[in-house]
Amino acid sequence: MKNIKYYLKKAQKEGFAIGQFNFSDFTQMKGVVNKGAELKSPIILGTSEGESNFFGLEEAVALRNVLRKKMGVPIFLNLDHGKTFEYLKKAIDAGYDMVHFDGSKLPLEENIKITKQVIKYARRKGVTVEGEIGMIGNDASRLYSEKFEIKEENLTNPAEAAEYVKKTKVDLLAVSIGNFHGIEISGIDPNLRLDLLKEIRIATGETALVLHGGSGTPEDDIRGAIKIGIQKININTELRLAFSGNLRRALTDAEVIVPYKFLADALKAVEGVTGRKIELFGSASKV
Ligand code: 13P
Repeated sequence: MKNIKYYLKKAQKEGFAIGQFNFSDFTQMKGVVNKGAELKSPIILGTSEGESNFFGLEEAVALRNVLRKKMGVPIFLNLDHGKTFEYLKKAIDAGYDMVHFDGSKLPLEENIKITKQVIKYARRKGVTVEGEIGMIGNDASRLYSEKFEIKEENLTNPAEAAEYVKKTKVDLLAVSIGNFHGIEISGIDPNLRLDLLKEIRIATGETALVLHGGSGTPEDDIRGAIKIGIQKININTELRLAFSGNLRRALTDAEVIVPYKFLADALKAVEGVTGRKIELFGSASKV
């Protein structure tokens, strides 16, 4: 199997993005992988610290291995928004393919220092590292009932991004260009700052760029961002809503007690969201 760096380069050359789909339950994991295999798309499975604490780091790695072999599709496992070197080290030791160090709330020098520490450890094990510059709005992936305000000072500063990638030599960089975790109640989030993304693209050279908070983002913005140079897009809230909404409906009848029956629609819903994102990102038939 080719590694994630191969697919990121391919994405850059051919103008598509690879989806990172978060999960904390096996039905979600299975739904994402089923669709990836059907559409012959490389897949990144993501777990935050919370999601991986619930699921288990070793369990996630073991099931990635099983699904990789059984489904014959490149599946990569990423530790999303790791806040400390210690937690990322655990994920690397467990066998994750990629780790994301989120030092965005730290002063730049401190962010650079810890990123370098993560990279030094990750390189020895062949693990790919994502860093972050600029603060991506809202920590949790969920539906928001109020309009979300993007603060100008939280957007990625191109000069800082340039300094960060030059000093750390990070493989991927997460950017803040008006994206945020979760979805506004209207279902469609505000537009991305594609003008800023262009500046960041120029400032960061060949570094793969990552768009977090992909749920609810207008589809034209996603297409525009990929054209400018986003190679990885993270999706969580839309998967959570599809999964929980179907489960809630299936469980309204108190006589429904068979998990493989009441989870069937939730599985299909996760497959549906994943399929639509793979088509939008252009990663189908790229394996
Ligand atoms: P959404 O929940 O908005 O899709 O964001 C997911 C994400 O960025 C995970 O890192």
